[in-house]
Amino acid sequence: MSKVLMLSSVVLAGFAAFGSPQPNIPDVSAGDMIAARQASLDMSSLTFRSMTDAMKSGRDAKSQAYPAAALAKWARVLPGMFPPGTGKGETSVETQARSSIWRDRAGFARAAAAYAEAAGRLGCPGCSQ
Ligand code: HEM
Repeated sequence: MSKVLMLSSVVLAGFAAFGSPQPNIPDVSAGDMIAARQASLDMSSLTFRSMTDAMKSGRDAKSQAYPAAALAKWARVLPGMFPPGTGKGETSVETQARSSIWRDRAGFARAAAAYAEAAGRLGCPGCSQ
């Protein structure tokens, strides 16, 4: 058996024994997914309000880099928190998510990307992300 063939067999045997090379992440239920994104959006609202208050009270914009970067971090993962099966009436959890999210996935991703870009600029003006 050639070395390449032998190595492939070892790798394939490894996959067969342990599944794909992805880490073993436990399933998150659709209801928990909805609750988690709603909690993140509620916390975004609180973060946004605290930033607005800081600006109104004359604080330096640079003092808001951390909350802005946190919003940007959330915005980058936001679209992934709306997988199929988490829309209105698909679970026992109430959601305000419109069906257009799944009908126009690209549009939703664009809106989230624009949000991430704006918050990212605020959080780290010199960064290219
Ligand atoms: C600073 C920016 C934002 C704030 C403060 C904010 C705040 C919120 C709040 C408070 C909720 C209600 C959550 C709940 O039911 O407990 C919500 C829901 C929602 N937001 Fe936003 N949001 C922001 C940006 C965005 C962006 C950029 C998108 C889409 C690209 C988005 C999409 C949604 C959707 C789809 C829901 C419904 C979630 C569900 O009920 O499953 N939001 N948002």
